[in-house]
Parts: sequence; C-alpha cells; structure tokens
Amino acid sequence: MANVLLGVTGSVAAIYTPELYRELRNAGHAVQLVATKSSLYFFDAAAIEATPVGSRNKEIVILDDDEWPNAHYQRGDPVLHIDLRRWADVLLIAPCDANTLAKLALGITDNCLTCVYRAWDATRPVILAPAMNTLMWEHPATARHLAQITADLRGSLRIAPPISKTLACDDIGVGAMAERPAILNVVAGLLQVK
Ligand SMILES: Cc1cc2nc3c(=O)[nH]c(=O)nc-3n(C[C@H](O)[C@H](O)[C@H](O)COP(=O)(O)O)c2cc1C
Repeated sequence: MANVLLGVTGSVAAIYTPELYRELRNAGHAVQLVATKSSLYFFDAAAIEATPVGSRNKEIVILDDDEWPNAHYQRGDPVLHIDLRRWADVLLIAPCDANTLAKLALGITDNCLTCVYRAWDATRPVILAPAMNTLMWEHPATARHLAQITADLRGSLRIAPPISKTLACDDIGVGAMAERPAILNVVAGLLQVK
C-alpha cells in the first residue's frame, strides 16, 4: 500500500473527488489531497471524510493558502510542497485539466500542486488522468505537453486515458476522465511492479 498524493484540478470530473478519495482509502492507501482553487468549484472539501495521515491530523485537503500559513516565514518553518513530495510514493492527478497539464509541461509553479510536481523525485511514479472537452484533448498542445512530460519523467509517467462519452458540455467524444476503477487499477498496477 502506498502514500498517494491526490492532485485535483478544475475539471467537471472533480465532482467525483470524494468518491475517489474514499476508494483509494478503501484500497488501503494513505491519501492526502492537494486541490487547486478552480477545483473547489466542483467539490466540497469539507465533504472529504478526513482520516488522519501520520502526524497530519486535520489537513487532509491541502489548499494553496496552506502553503502560506503565517504572516512571515521563519527559518525552520515547514515548506509544505517539499514535505508533501517527501511523503508521497505516488502523485496521482485526477482529474488533470488542460491548464494544469500545460503548466506541468512548461514547469510553471504557481500553486501548491505544480510546486509538488516541479519538486518531484522522478524515480517515483506520476499518474495523470486527463479530463477535458474533446477539442481540448485533440488540440496539438495536448500531445505536445504529454510528450514533454513523458520525456521529463523518464519512464515514471502513467496515463489513465480519457474515455469517450457525452461530456458535461453535451459534446460527445473523447475527453471524460477515465472511470475510477481504471484509475485505481493503474495505482494498483504500479504497486505490483514495486
Ligand atoms: C464549469 C467549468 C467546467 C470546466 N471543465 C473543464 C474540464 O473538464 N477540463 C479542463 O481542462 N478545463 C475545464 N474548465 C476550465 C478550468 O477550470 C480552467 O482552465 C482553470 O483555470 C483550471 O485551473 P487549475 O488547472 O488551476 O485547476 C472548466 C471550467 C468551468 C467554469
């Protein structure tokens, strides 16, 4: 079983976050969740049933503000995105929206999740479950960004590919986040390899 850091970004598929969190816990993983500001439009962080993880007993859902807890940084204060990277065996970003995908590819670090990714130890796996409108998925930038991330992670990247269905916007096509069992299978498959 693993320490899974679940990154959640601003796709409609973030509505499934409470279920995905619970299913990862039920599979025996310790889970902490880093949510982007946009993702909070789609799920209620308070709806996550907090189960203590090690010494962290309240902040199961980490928001960008948690990176900046005090008026001023004092030497010795924790640097949250580094602590999270040290803790995590696996970084799972589900859903991974087009914006965050682009930021990962470019190395942009303007929130807690992208800081964790940029500070990631590439010997540990990263799983992305992209979720976006079909034309966003088919846009050349998407393939370009995935190719860049694949090269950067040198074999540590796994993709839970998006599926085809009627999307929230009523378009029909590929772009919906992979079903949760498929995402859980990718996590489980990585642990068998370990
Ligand atoms: C109702 C709504 C639904 C959205 N769904 C998606 C989506 O499924 N995929 C996506 O890539 N962007 C989607 N977006 C756009 C992102 O939320 C937007 O790009 C945001 O800046 C992403 O920020 P983040 O990557 O920091 O979470 C949606 C926006 C809105 C308002």
